[in-house]
Amino acid sequence: MTKTLRVELGEDSYPIIVGGALLDRVGELLTSHTQSKKVLILSDSLIKAQYTPAVHQSLENAGFDVCTIEAPAGETNKSLAQFSRIQDSLIAHQLDRSSTLIALGGGVIGDLGGFAAAVYMRGISYVQIPTTLQAQVDASVGGKTAINHPKGKNLIGAFHQPKLVLIDVDTLKTLPQRDIRSGLIEVIKMGVIRDEPLFEMVEENLAAILNLEDTTLIEMIASACANKAEIVAEDEKESRLRMVLNYGHTFGHALEAVTHYNRYRHGEAVSIGMNCAARLAVNLGMFSEPDFHRQRTLLNRAKLPLIFPPDLTPEVICDAMYLDKKVLGGKLRLILPTRIGEVVIRNDVDDQDVLEAISQCF
Ligand SMILES: NC(=O)c1ccc[n+]([C@@H]2O[C@H](COP(=O)([O-])OP(=O)(O)OC[C@H]3O[C@@H](n4cnc5c(N)ncnc54)[C@H](O)[C@@H]3O)[C@@H](O)[C@H]2O)c1
Ligand SMILES: [Zn+2]
Repeated sequence: MTKTLRVELGEDSYPIIVGGALLDRVGELLTSHTQSKKVLILSDSLIKAQYTPAVHQSLENAGFDVCTIEAPAGETNKSLAQFSRIQDSLIAHQLDRSSTLIALGGGVIGDLGGFAAAVYMRGISYVQIPTTLQAQVDASVGGKTAINHPKGKNLIGAFHQPKLVLIDVDTLKTLPQRDIRSGLIEVIKMGVIRDEPLFEMVEENLAAILNLEDTTLIEMIASACANKAEIVAEDEKESRLRMVLNYGHTFGHALEAVTHYNRYRHGEAVSIGMNCAARLAVNLGMFSEPDFHRQRTLLNRAKLPLIFPPDLTPEVICDAMYLDKKVLGGKLRLILPTRIGEVVIRNDVDDQDVLEAISQCF
């Protein structure tokens, strides 16, 4: 089974293809989306042996001229140094304005490759082939690309839409369960912010999802991507609507920052953040206790964490949230649920209420 959807952005529109055994078909699927036959595959050091050969072979079979480069795996390599290495490689292999970069890997490779493609020769085409659940349901769709600066995550980047997103669910078979559970949070988040049927689908099919059953995964990922595609089509550059994707993230990012990005998976921190945002919404009388419990129960069944670790304090989390706000020069904007399937953006919540909700999640 294969599902195809589209991100509608006028001239920059592109398809997302979700299915199994797609890596062997990359050459064939790419042909109608490239101007020239010259491509560079970017992958990371951990997955290159597993996945690059199939993609390479399939491209060669379709007549492409293929070169490859790997970045070391891990978030710290979403860096200026790796960005620079990729530019060197694009130049050394003589890729030109009509060439294509293929980002084959998790969100780190997608963001790094996307940004490299966004600026090389003022922008060349790129294709996303995400291999983590996080990247398949979130990072690969929407054209946000970035690298980190020592002073902060994603500080240097660009909006640059891919020409095609190819999601092969078979790649998830080598991904550790912890990363599957962590990536699942973005699907559950999508359910809470705008798609109650998707939330219900995850509730009903959690075991099949965690067992990586193909048809269930394809349906779930396509549905999460369709939601993201709709949001991006309405608000490509994140002026307002796209902010709803940050549900649970303001709290989650603060937790990731104070634990130095090495204790929690992103999705785990967001899970605690969603529980906290939902608690705050209940306290403010906007969200019902039964809906709060419904979200909590699903996160719990997915073995995602719900509370902050005891060695931190509510003040530390709160300070990190406000520090983030100061850096960005804006107000603390919170995405709060009103029911499963709907959220509102609030920038008028009292600091004391925020601290109180965090305290209740310890
Ligand atoms: N651009 C966006 O809109 C957007 C949205 C969300 C997140 N992101 C970014 O995505 C990044 C996180 O992405 P991630 O969670 O995919 O992490 P990641 O790319 O670091 O991948 C996690 C680990 O899994 C390994 N891996 C990848 N695919 C695998 C597979 N199929 N089997 C086994 N191992 C595999 C990688 O080598 C890596 O060690 C962050 O940098 C984040 O900022 C971007
Ligand atoms: Zn996220």
